[in-house]
Amino acid sequence: MASLTYYGHSAFGIDTGSHKVLIDPFISGNPQATLSADQINCDAILLTHGHGDHLGDTVAIARRCGALVVTTYELAGFMDSQDVKNHPMHIGGFHRFDFGAVKLTPAFHGGAVEGADIACAPCGFLFFFNNTCLFHPGDTSLTVEFELIGRMNRIDIALLPIGDNFTMGPEDAFEAVRMLKPKKVVPMHYNTWELIAQDPQSFKSRVESETDAKVQVVEPGATVEI
Ligand code: NI
Ligand code: MN
Repeated sequence: MASLTYYGHSAFGIDTGSHKVLIDPFISGNPQATLSADQINCDAILLTHGHGDHLGDTVAIARRCGALVVTTYELAGFMDSQDVKNHPMHIGGFHRFDFGAVKLTPAFHGGAVEGADIACAPCGFLFFFNNTCLFHPGDTSLTVEFELIGRMNRIDIALLPIGDNFTMGPEDAFEAVRMLKPKKVVPMHYNTWELIAQDPQSFKSRVESETDAKVQVVEPGATVEI
């Protein structure tokens, strides 16, 4: 049985039953986090871009757990400089790991590591494990690429930003659902700060009345079966 834990913002933990995988583990300084970074263990970390609210505790957790960081080539170079085990990939690339398979998707956003002179293209992840396809698009605008991603993959769970200002807001995330055609949507990247405050229940009502997708609003700290 696989499970999904939401740490708030865009940070998730996926327990596939045999491996623990984190995505964008921003825990320290995350107002929504309900535990500390040193309480989280994992085998691998999928990292979408270098912004602090995604890179977060990646280096500390990866060093402590000996976890493999899977990310873009440029950000993997940064992981090298931090003595963190990594696997470089890039947008469009697919690779099988022991914890599941990963494909990097385009994201329209920035990607610099704050305080380091490294610019990185941001990405999203299609993560395939057991018989499940999970999509974490990272920070992005609405993009027509979602149409292609939805056509080529039967997405079980799409984690979609709805916070607006830095990413898609609820209206654009609704269009994303129409293109991606996922079975289930979990909203993310909202209510972390006042600037990205949103009502996930009104997003849920609209998506569920106008599409076939179900929206599962997961509270920070909660773990749900997937
Ligand atoms: Ni960002
Ligand atoms: Mn962000």
